[in-house]
Amino acid sequence: MSAATPSDATPSMTGSWARAFIDPAAFSHEQNRLARYWTVLGLTTDIPKDNDWIRSTLGDRSVFVQRLGDTIRAFENRCAHRHFPLRNADRGNGVMRCAFHHWQYDKQGRAVGIPRCPELFDKTPRELGATLNPVEIATCGILIFGRFATPESNQSLEEYLGDGFPILKAFTSLDKAPRRMTRKVKANWRLPLHISMDDYHLVAVHPSTFGKNGYLTTGVTYFRFGDHCAYFPGAERDAFDKMVAECRDGTYDPHRFRIFHFFPNLSAVMFQAPGCWIVMLMQYRAVAMDKSEIRIWYYPAPFQAHKQSKSFRRYTEYVALGASYYMTRVLGEDNVVNEQQQAIAVQIAEPPLLGHHEERIGWFEEAYRRAMNLPPTPVDSRVRENVEKPAEV
Ligand code: FES
Ligand SMILES: [Fe+2]
Repeated sequence: MSAATPSDATPSMTGSWARAFIDPAAFSHEQNRLARYWTVLGLTTDIPKDNDWIRSTLGDRSVFVQRLGDTIRAFENRCAHRHFPLRNADRGNGVMRCAFHHWQYDKQGRAVGIPRCPELFDKTPRELGATLNPVEIATCGILIFGRFATPESNQSLEEYLGDGFPILKAFTSLDKAPRRMTRKVKANWRLPLHISMDDYHLVAVHPSTFGKNGYLTTGVTYFRFGDHCAYFPGAERDAFDKMVAECRDGTYDPHRFRIFHFFPNLSAVMFQAPGCWIVMLMQYRAVAMDKSEIRIWYYPAPFQAHKQSKSFRRYTEYVALGASYYMTRVLGEDNVVNEQQQAIAVQIAEPPLLGHHEERIGWFEEAYRRAMNLPPTPVDSRVRENVEKPAEV
């Protein structure tokens, strides 16, 4: 039985919901709380070879993800010695050795190679017991998620995504790296995220792209599952459960446009292009309180890929590339609005008035408020015994 429920009502939003757009303390509070949420750090295809690594962010902290043999591990990007960042580029390959004084770490993040250790620290590396701060990780398809563990972290990634897990897994079970692009937006990350959940602005903001196309807002059903939500055209109330079941048993075949949002900052869109279906994943990352970055991965939908010929698959790659130009135009139109909102954010005190076609923004903000009321994410995440359990890949 699915936990998803079609929408019936729009919740109200209270409080100074825009404070983190303009107040460094509120932004810092927000990012600290979000560090405990399962968040996409990168893709398994970003680190195909042993010792490949990528740098990423998790809430307010820099982290890195590294392939170590047949496992993937992640750590806070901060040396246990004098807190130098171990990784100072977005990607690379190499053992975990800090460039400041050459401390070297093993797979568990233990400092095992410390130059002149007994002489300078009066102990062996083992006695010193210095370790990197671990990030708990798990995968869904090719997505690598991470979080800083807290004493309350009791949901696995699969449990956290709920019915969204089989769907996201089916969307992202790829045998090659997808194309990617990044958009920089001079606005708080919640503004581009909000507009991606807004079906009301299409006519005004996208008149020449898809605003005149009424199908996006007529006969739509919104589903809510946990902190996450989905947009389905059509009013069949069992459509969500059906899709979950078909993604689970590998029989799902796309036939309708779909949008999913996974709290806190990931969306997955599947749309039809000439002759095939395209998936676009978007991650809305905070860079500063008034700057964000949308990471986008796009590719032909992988469903039933085994039934497709090589030439068809090649064709779909070109279609995906073409579709990305169209999506870039749409996102550009959205981002102009976001930056104009950010420009007057200091004036925003009241919560917005949300109509039925903006209902998912209200749901997102409810989850967000719950997150903001959590205790601080601990500085040291070695609070649970299983935190060092690596993701098998
Ligand atoms: S700060 Fe990393 S080895 Fe000194
Ligand atoms: Fe838009």
